[in-house]
Parts: sequence; structure tokens; C-alpha cells
Amino acid sequence: MLIRLFAFATFAMSAATAHAAPKQPSADIASPDGRLSVQVTTDNDGRPSYTVARAGQPVIAPSRLGFLFLDSPKFERNLVLAEQKKSSFDETWEQPWGERKTIRNHYNQLRVTLSEKNAPKRSFDVVFRLFDDGVAFRYEFPDQPALRQVRISEELTEFNIADPATAWWIPAGEWNREEYLYHRTPVQEVGDAQTPITLRTEAGLHLSIHEAALVEYSGMNLTRVEGRKFRADLTPGIGEGKVVRSAPFHTPWRTLQVSDDAAGLAMSSLILNLNEPNALGDVSWVKPMKYVGVWWEMHLENKTWASGPKHGATNENVMRHIDFAAEHGFGGVLVEGWNVGWDGEWFGNGEEFSFTRAYPDFDIEKLAAYAKSKGVTIIGHHETSGHAAHYESQLEEAFDLYQRLGITAVKTGYVADAGQAKVIGEDGKLHYAWHEGQDMARHHQKVVESAARHRIAVNPHEPVKDTGLRRTYPNWVTREGARGMEFSAWGQPGNPPEHEANLVFTRLLAGPMDYTPGIFGMKTRSTDGIATTWAKQLALYVVIYSPLQMAADLLDNYEKNPAPFQFIKDVPVDWEDTRVLNGEVGDFVTIARKDRASDNWYLGSVSDEEARTLSVPLTFLDSDRSYTAQIYRDGTDAHWKTAPKDIVIEERRVTSADTLDLRLAPGGGQAIRFVAQ
Ligand code: NOJ
Ligand code: CA
Repeated sequence: MLIRLFAFATFAMSAATAHAAPKQPSADIASPDGRLSVQVTTDNDGRPSYTVARAGQPVIAPSRLGFLFLDSPKFERNLVLAEQKKSSFDETWEQPWGERKTIRNHYNQLRVTLSEKNAPKRSFDVVFRLFDDGVAFRYEFPDQPALRQVRISEELTEFNIADPATAWWIPAGEWNREEYLYHRTPVQEVGDAQTPITLRTEAGLHLSIHEAALVEYSGMNLTRVEGRKFRADLTPGIGEGKVVRSAPFHTPWRTLQVSDDAAGLAMSSLILNLNEPNALGDVSWVKPMKYVGVWWEMHLENKTWASGPKHGATNENVMRHIDFAAEHGFGGVLVEGWNVGWDGEWFGNGEEFSFTRAYPDFDIEKLAAYAKSKGVTIIGHHETSGHAAHYESQLEEAFDLYQRLGITAVKTGYVADAGQAKVIGEDGKLHYAWHEGQDMARHHQKVVESAARHRIAVNPHEPVKDTGLRRTYPNWVTREGARGMEFSAWGQPGNPPEHEANLVFTRLLAGPMDYTPGIFGMKTRSTDGIATTWAKQLALYVVIYSPLQMAADLLDNYEKNPAPFQFIKDVPVDWEDTRVLNGEVGDFVTIARKDRASDNWYLGSVSDEEARTLSVPLTFLDSDRSYTAQIYRDGTDAHWKTAPKDIVIEERRVTSADTLDLRLAPGGGQAIRFVAQ
């Protein structure tokens, strides 16, 4: 590992000319390649602001920094730029699992101290990190006599987009949490938006605003103040103040990824780099894997979570899944509806759930032992209905049980409308909470830390947003946090053909998603059914990154279709390298990934509702060998609506000198396995 850390006083200022000459003292910093730059200054009233430029062109116009508190005066004017420090950092670190094995973390840092001119003479630092592919900054509050505990009512951070742009976004503060279809609008038509939000300027620059390392703080949404200017809109807390903290503390990183093209956004490791290194030590027990489950049949209403004649989690059904997993090389079997609490209105009755007591027709001891004997793990399920407090009261016992049984992964669930999670407040009473407020961020961290002590990996649904904490807690393997495949089982509407090409350049910029692909039974309870072709279902295993990846369909559908199923069996879930080969937000994307355990490469390409042919040079392949390309492509008549199952499976010899023309049907895709010879 290469580590270089040094401080220096002067800096190449080439890009600084893009910022308007400030009247007050200012501080500047540029990225290692000199293209991105940030300038911080204060106005005549001592109000601090920052700007971002790239290659001399403004990207973020003057944008304010500061805070409003409930229990002390506001902290946003009468400030002087008291001190500035610069440093540089360059390391290459290894991911225990991931989209790529090694990641370079290379940035220049500027620390600016902003102090009040008059009493109470408080101060905070703003720390900027400039990478070649983006900018991040956070506020740091040092220990100081005039600032102890604060109740933050507003964080005044602004993002004033310099140029006209198109935005891809989902609304914040709505009842269905993160599970909305993406809007594509001019930036001036964005309302209150969640992050990551993706923007493409008229000049073609791609931007993504998000946050990294959301710890002991409330998740940030963006509210459009006027024109193209956004301000942070923190998720409400449960009492007075959106965030309650005691100095010293710092905020999460506010991040701005910048790229010439959409592919560059999806290639960035900026969010991970801003998180603290692995805090868990040896994590070889965290095993990326594919899994099947007692799951889709409930979403189709063939089976129930609740007990009764249609109960899904029976000994017989689970054993069938364990046998299937062992036969076809899957690592896990998810079982939902195994535990007491599902009968009745479970949505509103989280306190009914037991996380240790199984229904009588589910013999947890016997099934866990049976799974173990076949080299498979049961993936446990803890639906909480958002009642985090009730879950916490059973957490240790629940994980003790799983650890004793050899269960190494758990899917948690927080099905409750936004604002209806339940936590215990400082007053010892039960409070309704938002899924991304400070208390729920703390809850998720508690679950992940407890799970780690029990050597269990965690996959939350209806989660707090992903901000890259998998780097610090590598057992936080994946999560939902967007519309998953389940919407195509029952959604009105389901997920449209453009959905995945949106996800790759929006939600997935935050981190892995348990999307649950691999559906061959195209008719569902949703009007349009599964709005993709079969080839696209296969391509999703490469396009959507998740170290836990489900083969979500009914086992029958795999048994009846062994030829396309072969790709799902072959595709790995842990990667040596990832290359985003092409893409446009919401239109199409092609990604190639190299297996961590072999010399084989895999490619996935997906389209929206348009048919298109993408020319893909295979230059990512090793130049000194040839490969057998096992191709799963849309047939001539394939169309998501009329002929989703029209798939052609064929083989050809290729080398890195070849170029493939990928013909994608409307709602189609293509999956390729390149087997090294
Ligand atoms: C919603 C989750 O996304 C889904 O996967 C799960 O089956 C249900 N909640 C029940 O917990
Ligand atoms: Ca969900």
C-alpha cells in the first residue's frame, strides 16, 4: 500500500481565475490534476460561501455555508476566515469485496477556520477535499467554551448550479420513502429532492450531489430555493432540532461528483474514499453470494407471510429451496414469514414481531442444520415494520440465535410510511421518526455493529440511504432504498423499461442495491408485468452491483428454463475490476466486470424502451489471450411487451481486438460471459 501524506503551503492556482475576485480574504484549492477548484470567501457581512469551477468554468456559483440552531444564535454571519491549512493525500487501499479490488484515494485538502468577529466568538472549520472526479466538504465543530450541545434547526449549505441543466431526481418527504420513479426535469422544476440527485448541464457536464459517512446526523435532502439554487434540507429529528450534537463533532461529507460523461459518475469511488477505513478487522467471514428465497411467491400472492394454509415458510418449502440452492451453487436461502408476528395488520404492528420465535411449521434448528450440511446458509429475515425500538429490545438475542445456528446474513425491513418509524427518545418515550433522521441513522449503525459482533452480514430494506459506510463496516453488504423488482410483481405501475438505466446513474452511485433480478415469469399482478426482456434480466446481474444478489423468481421457472438460468448460475458477485463502457442517464448503460476468482470477464448492457445497437470494443479483455464469449442476447422479435422471452444464446471466439455490436430490443439487454482460454 502506498501512502503519502504531506502538508504544503503553496498550490498551483491555475484554475482559481474562474472564481470571481473576492473583496474579502479567500482560500483556494485545486484537485490533484488541477482541473477542479474551490474558492471560499466571506462577504461584507461576514457570510461565508464557496464556489466550484472546472477547467476555468463555474460549476457551483457562490453558495452559502452555515447553520441555524434552536438553542443558540445562528452561525452564518460576522465570520472571518481566520486560518487556512492545505495538505495532500494519496493512498491505494483494498476492498474486502466490491466492484473493484483496489481503490486510489487521492485528494488535496483545504481546511478553513471561520470565526465569529464578536461574542460569543464561536468557530467552525470547513474541510474541503478535491479529487480529480469531484469535491467534498464537511463542517467540523471543535471543542469550545461557547459551543457545547447544539440543536441544529437548519443546515444552510447551498448548491447553486452554475449552468442550466437537466435533473434526475425523486421527491423527498413523501410517504413511500425512497421508492419513487425518477423524474427527469429541467433543474428549475425540481422540488424537494432526495440525494443522490443527478444533473447534466447543457454543456454536457454530469454532476451528482450526495453525502458520505452519514453518522449521528440526519440525512440531507435538497430543497430548491430559487432558480438553480438548492439548499440542504435535513430530515427532521424526533424532538427539538433536526440534529442534536455536542462538540467536538463533524457533519457528514457533502459531495459533488463531476464528470464529462454519465459513465464517469458510475466509475467514481469518491463516496467510499470519504468514509473511514474498515473498523472491523478481519472480515473474511463476510461472504458475497447469490441466493434464492421463499419470497417472490408471497409477492405474487401464491403464498403468505402469515401462518395458515398458504404459509410460505414451511419446513417442506424451505428444504426444497435448500436442495435447489445446493444443487445449483447458491450460497443462501432467504426465508421470510418464518417468525411470529405476521398474522394480522403487521404493517402497523411492529411490536407483535418476535425475532426468536418461529411459527410451528418452521423448525429453525432442523432447517439451519440441514442448510449447513449442504453448504448453504439460511438468510434470516427481520421485518420490523419500522419499529426500531422494539427490534433493538431483541437485537442481541436475535443475533445470538442466528450465530448459534450458523446463519451468516440477515435481511432487515422497515416497512412503515415515512415519518412512522418508532424510536425511543432522550426522554425515554416512544417517538415517531423519519427513516433517515439522526435516530434511525444511529439505529442502523447499532444493528450493523451488533451483527458484526455476531459475524452476520446485513441487508436492510426501507433503509437509511447508503453513504459508503460499507467501507467502515464491511458487513453492511447491501440494501434496498429504491424501487426494487418487487414493484414489477404488484406495483401500479410497476418499474418501466427505463428504470434500471436511471438507477445506475442515480441511486446506485450511493452503493450496492438488493434489486432482486432474474425473473423469467413475465406476467405478474402488475399491469405491465416485468417490463424487460429475458436477456435484460440476465444483464442486470452485471449492471446492478450487489454482493448479495438474488435469483428472485420461483424455482419452477428456473427448472423449466435451464439454458438462460445458466448465466445466473455462472455470474459472480465479487469483482476484481469494473468498467462502465458507455451510458446515458435513463437511456442505456453497458458495464464490464472482471471476476475476482478467475480470469473471466462479464458484460451487461441494458436499454430503456428504445431499441438500440451499441458498438463495444472489447479492449478491456487481456490482450494476450482469447476468450469464448457466451452470449445471451435479445432475439429478432424480442420486445419487453410482446416477446420478452425471445432470447438467443450463442458462443463465439473473441479477443481484445474485436468489437461487438450489441443489439438491444425495446426494454432489452444483453449478457455475456467471456471465458478465458
Ligand atoms: C418490503 C421488502 O422490500 C420486501 O423485500 C419484503 O418482502 C417485504 N417488505 C416484507 O418484509
Ligand atoms: Ca421495499
